[in-house]
Amino acid sequence: MTDIINVLYDEDALDQRNAELAALIAEAGYQKLLVIAVLKGSFVFAADLLRALYRAGVPLEVEFMSLSSYGAGTKSSGNVEVVRDVDADVRDRDILLIDDILESGRTLAFAKTMLSERGASRVDVAVLLDKKGKRVAEIEAEYVGFDCPDKFVVGYGMDKAHMYREVPFVGHLTEI
Ligand code: IMP
Ligand code: MG
Repeated sequence: MTDIINVLYDEDALDQRNAELAALIAEAGYQKLLVIAVLKGSFVFAADLLRALYRAGVPLEVEFMSLSSYGAGTKSSGNVEVVRDVDADVRDRDILLIDDILESGRTLAFAKTMLSERGASRVDVAVLLDKKGKRVAEIEAEYVGFDCPDKFVVGYGMDKAHMYREVPFVGHLTEI
């Protein structure tokens, strides 16, 4: 089997959307902003969005968090594990979580609750892609790059079995 990567969002579309998202985030008036990139899938999106935020004049600090969701086929909502936690104290900070895809929402709902319980003053979410039809947890992102069709996508940080994260655009896979 060979994977064909069909372009969904090309580099120009991603650049333009990142600038638009940064402008929206700049208007939101965050204080003591701590941006947390959820690894691994968000690393390319986060790198571009952070630089767009710099151009939009938004001061911030960056942290990373690695979460793994297991038993994703079950209906229980608590089965997310912190693989790598943030180093910073989040108390009284405004947080912007960055992730690649909001699908069931379990992962980001877990992270949001955890950070709120630690005393963050505000926890908002920016995702590159929203697969709206797949939501299980009650969560919406404040910032969405694109509404994503219900297809398996790769590239721009996102993988299929650890491959294709380096692809510079977002594509969906077909096999021949
Ligand atoms: P959920 O919102 O907790 O269901 O988790 C969404 C996560 O599933 C994303 O952060 C990705 O890591 C992964 N994911 C969902 N759909 C795709 C896809 O189409 N390609 C690659 N990873 C995906
Ligand atoms: Mg992920």
